[in-house]
Amino acid sequence: MSTTPTSASTPAIETLRVELGERSYDIVVGAGLIAQAARWIVPVLKRPRVVVITDANVAPFYLPPLLASLRDADVQCDAITLPAGEQTKSFAQFESLCESVLELRVERSTTLIALGGGVIGDLVGYAAASILRGMPFVQVPTTLLSQVDSSVGGKTGINTRHGKNLVGAFCQPKLVLADTAALNSLDRRQLMAGYAEVVKYGLIDDPDFFEWLEANAQALIDGDMDKRRRAILTSCAAKARVVAEDELESGKRALLNLGHTFGHALEAETGYGGALLHGEAVSIGTAMAFDLSQRLGLCSGQDRGRVTAHFSAVGLPMDLRALDTAKWTADILLDHMSRDKKVEDGKLTFVLTRGIGAAFITRDIAANDVRALLDDWLASNSR
Ligand code: GLY
Repeated sequence: MSTTPTSASTPAIETLRVELGERSYDIVVGAGLIAQAARWIVPVLKRPRVVVITDANVAPFYLPPLLASLRDADVQCDAITLPAGEQTKSFAQFESLCESVLELRVERSTTLIALGGGVIGDLVGYAAASILRGMPFVQVPTTLLSQVDSSVGGKTGINTRHGKNLVGAFCQPKLVLADTAALNSLDRRQLMAGYAEVVKYGLIDDPDFFEWLEANAQALIDGDMDKRRRAILTSCAAKARVVAEDELESGKRALLNLGHTFGHALEAETGYGGALLHGEAVSIGTAMAFDLSQRLGLCSGQDRGRVTAHFSAVGLPMDLRALDTAKWTADILLDHMSRDKKVEDGKLTFVLTRGIGAAFITRDIAANDVRALLDDWLASNSR
């Protein structure tokens, strides 16, 4: 179904609803929301007490206006600032965060607020699911990736040495507040990494949206706020629909992992250290998924070419060249994939495609086909 907005301009602030019965919540999208955050946050608080958790990169920009807005509304606030980076999604930081929150003598009626990107959102969500066996939490995502994907849908968790997001919980937030102005302070690499997740929604089931992105990507990357808002709203609407249908990923939600089975293996092998951002891993993983689909005769070379041309045009990686893959083998990557949460009966789940907007979930992929694909990708990197 096409969700591409057709009106000439979208309203400055727009609200979408994730329909999950008594766990339903709003996603509010617009520029400048953080400075007036109390307007949306106060109505979802059980009591006027919050703990804001953020990271050292985000805190200088957005912690003061968020706290000012809440304090003006007589909300009692504490704040905790963690180190920035994927390595913060660890057992060690999880433990230290839980102890710090408990140190503040919180109650079950205290709300945690995650102010930051996907790392902070996933970690704080998992802490909220765990501390006192469950505290309410609000997501205030400040990166494109977290605004269009990780802050919506209630997947929370941390990485382990066995792989990404392998320990966590489903725990829905009470509200998502996506301030599009926050994207102005993102560096281009972070913005692009988030853009890979935006493209994903077009590739899954919305070819019109992909076509719209082909025409408008450069403008939205360069800062056209109206186009950014349209892209974020379209992405969030797509995600809200899938989550409402399949909250716990027993079926359709797995489509949102297009490019992720391969991508997570690349991230695990690079060690989450910044050599490869999650969205970059997803863009390479998506290229691999289209390559595998073409090799299996499912998808045309023309569609595959259109996808790689678009990712390359905006500057996202479409090969492994930036990575040190000298010691990598197909079996090492396959081993990472076999630890994926979606392995069932030892069979990997892949999201493959019959073309742009025609992704599907399959377990019927022979390991040898995947091994041959990875061998070719690794070989072309060593030439
Ligand atoms: N990022 C995939 C999901 O939320 O299901």
